[in-house]
Amino acid sequence: MKKLENKVAVITGASKGIGAGIAKSLAAEGALVVVNYASAKAGADQVVADIISNGGKAIAVQGDVSKIADVSRLFEETKSAFGAVDILVNNAGVYKFNSIEQLTEEEFHSQFNTNVLGLLLATQHALKNFNENGGSIINIGSVVSNIAPVGSSIYTATKGAVDSITHVLSKELGAKKIRVNSINPGMVETEGTHTAGFIGSEFQAETERTAPLGRIGQPEDIALVAVFLASEDSRWLTGETLLAGGGVR
Ligand SMILES: NC(=O)c1ccc[n+]([C@@H]2O[C@H](COP(=O)([O-])OP(=O)(O)OC[C@H]3O[C@@H](n4cnc5c(N)ncnc54)[C@H](OP(=O)(O)O)[C@@H]3O)[C@@H](O)[C@H]2O)c1
Repeated sequence: MKKLENKVAVITGASKGIGAGIAKSLAAEGALVVVNYASAKAGADQVVADIISNGGKAIAVQGDVSKIADVSRLFEETKSAFGAVDILVNNAGVYKFNSIEQLTEEEFHSQFNTNVLGLLLATQHALKNFNENGGSIINIGSVVSNIAPVGSSIYTATKGAVDSITHVLSKELGAKKIRVNSINPGMVETEGTHTAGFIGSEFQAETERTAPLGRIGQPEDIALVAVFLASEDSRWLTGETLLAGGGVR
């Protein structure tokens, strides 16, 4: 028996990177997967095609998590395709590093709207679709809330907020049998970290020099932790922020 047989999982920002890896791994364990994306339809369709060709079930649903109407539609489409939600992975996120001198209002709102408001809206709307058996909410934070890299004041603030929300909602939703945990990855090779210029940078080299396991992560490294937090194997965990960075802390 697979660990997530017929569980319904919504993964925000799953057209690429860590979200795509999590979507494929949850589907491989039997989950019915909703692959959310903001604009990369081709990427989301490819993730769905990969899942289906592997014998799984998935649909792609467009929706900007920072817009309440989009989030509402995301969960309506989820309900009509698969029924009640069992697992929500709040993965959609954006990051850009800049010094305090270069900080702009636009950049603040862009990162906070997706990483914090989007996570809250998706959680709020998902809650209407969980059934009495509860389920699992997995927030994707970051090791930055521990290591606080130079130039990351906005991004680290968003991920500090994610840690706080994980703690608060674990208390608020425990009575509904909904567990709320976060995975806080270290650097992972994704489309996003390529675009941001982290891959191939001194930041990557420094991470590899200092990480106890001597390398940066791949999406599958994070996806294995997501399967654990989504499944009954972690039934006694809630309110945890799991560092997943090969020992980076
Ligand atoms: N990679 C790392 O080193 C690392 C480390 C720690 C934490 N994280 C966190 O892990 C998560 C994923 O990062 P990643 O590196 O995999 O990023 P990525 O490769 O850039 O992928 C980001 C995903 O999020 C989606 N997205 C962005 N804004 C959205 C919005 N407003 N609504 C819905 N979807 C949205 C994108 O969809 P479209 O392509 O359609 O825009 C894409 O599917 C983020 O929360 C990030 O902060 C990453």
